[in-house]
Amino acid sequence: ATVHDQQLHRGKGGELHQFAEDGHEVLTTAQGGPVDDDQNTLRVGVRGPALIEDFHFREKLFHFDHERIPERVVHARGYGAHGYFETYESLAHYTKADFLQRPGEKTPAFVRFSTVAGSKGSFDLARDVRGFAVKLYTQEGNWDLVGNNIPVFFIQDAIKFPDIIHAVKPEPDRGFPQAQSAHDNFWDFISLTPESMHMIMWVMSDRAIPRSFRFMEGFGVHTFRFINAKDASTFVKFHWKPKLGLQSVVWNEAVKINGADPDFHRRDLWQAIQSGNFPEWELCVQLFDQDFADSFDFDVLDPTKIIPEEVLPLQPIGRLVLDRMPDNFFAETEQVAFMTQNVPPGIGFSNDPLLQGRNFSYLDTQLKRLGSANFTHLPINAPKCPFHHFQQDGHMAMRNPTGRVNYQPNSWGEGPRESPSTGYRHFPSEEQGPKIRLRPESFADHYSQARQFFMSQTLPEQRHIAMALTFELSKVETSVIRERMVSHLLNIDETLAGKVAAGLGLADMPKAADAAVPPRQDLDPSPALSIVEN
Ligand code: HEM
Repeated sequence: ATVHDQQLHRGKGGELHQFAEDGHEVLTTAQGGPVDDDQNTLRVGVRGPALIEDFHFREKLFHFDHERIPERVVHARGYGAHGYFETYESLAHYTKADFLQRPGEKTPAFVRFSTVAGSKGSFDLARDVRGFAVKLYTQEGNWDLVGNNIPVFFIQDAIKFPDIIHAVKPEPDRGFPQAQSAHDNFWDFISLTPESMHMIMWVMSDRAIPRSFRFMEGFGVHTFRFINAKDASTFVKFHWKPKLGLQSVVWNEAVKINGADPDFHRRDLWQAIQSGNFPEWELCVQLFDQDFADSFDFDVLDPTKIIPEEVLPLQPIGRLVLDRMPDNFFAETEQVAFMTQNVPPGIGFSNDPLLQGRNFSYLDTQLKRLGSANFTHLPINAPKCPFHHFQQDGHMAMRNPTGRVNYQPNSWGEGPRESPSTGYRHFPSEEQGPKIRLRPESFADHYSQARQFFMSQTLPEQRHIAMALTFELSKVETSVIRERMVSHLLNIDETLAGKVAAGLGLADMPKAADAAVPPRQDLDPSPALSIVEN
């Protein structure tokens, strides 16, 4: 056989396997054509101009030029892993969700941890909330529990989300600071938004600088519903508890780690899983009914509130194990699309106004970010159960309906049909009222749970909160914003307020903020805050 024959080998199916001189598979173009030289463009003579005829060069550069997609508008920096969820016992009494019926059943999972504010290339140890987004590929479609490592949120209504995110991201004129909350715009917004005080206490605590993703808790935040086969609903809050317990670093460590290894959390998860040290979390629930909800002086629809675990203990219902890293970071971790609206039958929404808004936002943003309505065709987003629908065409359609039928009803006896008995039914809660834009009175107490959280911390942890507030606010250049923050802290804990005020060198202690602000009224921006006219 000639050298040429040894390099061309035809398989049983007639396919041609081509090998290079050194035995490697032959490099091809995206069209499958074999490439002879990948080092030099086609030119006129050795020193002449390049030729447009060089289709290999043009294809290679064209594809490279289009490698980037928009980063996530929030939670841009993240790291994911595959694993599974294992159900402990049947929850049939509360939910008809198929994956929660049989003890020991395993459901494939993909999880992405993230920071919120920084861009894709920011560092891991920023003081920030961490995303904890879980996709369970159930036999009734994907369930996404798109949570955080903090059980409450900054705002009570989704309409304020663009404002809080604009405020925390780099300031529009200067384009900094990256990935940190220590700046005027952020604290300006926070100090004008008393509902954020509970969350701020968590964000200034050690929780916001976790040692590793493996040592973090996760929370669904909102009140959701379980719905059983008899269509009875139970309210549910979801919690992930790490088997390794909770650990954080202190600020000095965070700063050093960011400088020495900005990928610290990524490396940690990679190394743990590659060495067979699989991280694990228990999924726990708090279950309650409307009467129990009515017994609180806060509203269970308010995402700035928790139901204390002492009042309503957690019930473990299963475990999540992460045991496999993605084969390709971009294909899986970057292209995964989590959506709060992804729920199987048996899991439903409450009227939490933040959750209701999120249910719009995620689908909308995925189209922008992934560029095609067919993003569910990507393997990481596709369900792992049988699925049939009549959606077709669009950019990059890879799964069009087969055969003649792409609609229903039809006379051909073909194609899928809806199923009233097994299909997803929204919980038929009774709703009525005028069309109105008004925050409920039951959402008005912004300080009690902030105080409760602060008081629940050990003395060193309380000291860390005081130090974090002092450090972050010391970066704020506008004195009225610093003072406004201290006036809120006075409603949370006077000693804390005193320490921060002293740390900031405030000459006089401001008055406590008006704790009885009517829900819709904005705080009056102080006249001392000068607005520069363009
Ligand atoms: C990501 C919107 C509140 C957790 C995102 C993204 C958007 C968004 C647009 C980017 C998604 C992507 O490009 O794939 C909103 C809105 C909110 C809100 C409008 C409030 C109105 C929350 C809350 C939580 C949360 C309360 C936690 C309970 C996450 C997580 C991610 C994310 C974990 C990252 C998902 C991933 O890893 O790909 N959010 N969000 N968000 N959000 Fe929210």
